[in-house]
Amino acid sequence: MRLASVPFPQTGIHVAIIMDGNGRWALAHTHERSDGHRAGADNVRRIVEAAPGLGIRALTLYAFSRDNWSRPQGEVNNIMALLRAFLESEGERCKREGVRIQVIGSRDKLEYSLVRSIAAAERQTARGTRLDLRIALNYSSRDSILAAARRCLLSNKSEARKVSDFLAGDGRRAGVPDVDLLIRTGGEKRLSDFLLWECAYAELYFTPTLWPDFSPRDLEAAIAEFKHRERRFGNIGKSSTSTQEYWLR
Ligand code: IPE
Ligand code: IPE
Ligand code: MG
Repeated sequence: MRLASVPFPQTGIHVAIIMDGNGRWALAHTHERSDGHRAGADNVRRIVEAAPGLGIRALTLYAFSRDNWSRPQGEVNNIMALLRAFLESEGERCKREGVRIQVIGSRDKLEYSLVRSIAAAERQTARGTRLDLRIALNYSSRDSILAAARRCLLSNKSEARKVSDFLAGDGRRAGVPDVDLLIRTGGEKRLSDFLLWECAYAELYFTPTLWPDFSPRDLEAAIAEFKHRERRFGNIGKSSTSTQEYWLR
């Protein structure tokens, strides 16, 4: 399959995806939620592979929220095992393809073996410059805003742009600009505590397609629609074309 490449100004855009609908996909297929999560993880591989060719420079994927701990223990264990397998199997390929992996969210509550896999994947891919792949795991946007604000207060840096620097969870550095396009699959139209600060001027795109079925072509269609949106950033008429320019103005 060949995807038309979408030209973007030098750096490309930041796309964030709420990958929702694995459970409903499973209901329609095998009735095992674990199969839905496995199909979802396989789709992450396809989407990551297609992203750079579609003009995406940073891709933030919502994999597991802080509130998802309330799910049955078996499902939580299954998702954690898939995440660990993804990090362990994709590190080498991501390194080869210039994809830098960063896991955002809090490391507390994660099993030590998973924390080790995260550290290894981040270390292995640290030099990647083609795509910033950020995986939100044990993530709460409200928690990360609080941690960033604390961090800024301690260092006397309270401007909005400084808070933005430390939103990767536990007050760690984020290192990517705000979100340009937020996609939610699965039909719900809500943010579920994802990137509340970073989406201040994001374009929102909701699709009923369930995450395991959301193909690179669907991503391409979302980006094509995004390109036709007029972004104003509070101004009148078309002003900036990216959130990065908005911050720099
Ligand atoms: C998203 O799919 C994956 C996670 C939240 C971990 P869901 O498991 O929420 O799927 P639905 O919403 O029940 O279909
Ligand atoms: C959001 O989906 C979290 C992820 C996709 C990881 P949820 O399925 O947890 O969201 P709600 O509960 O429908 O708001
Ligand atoms: Mg859901």
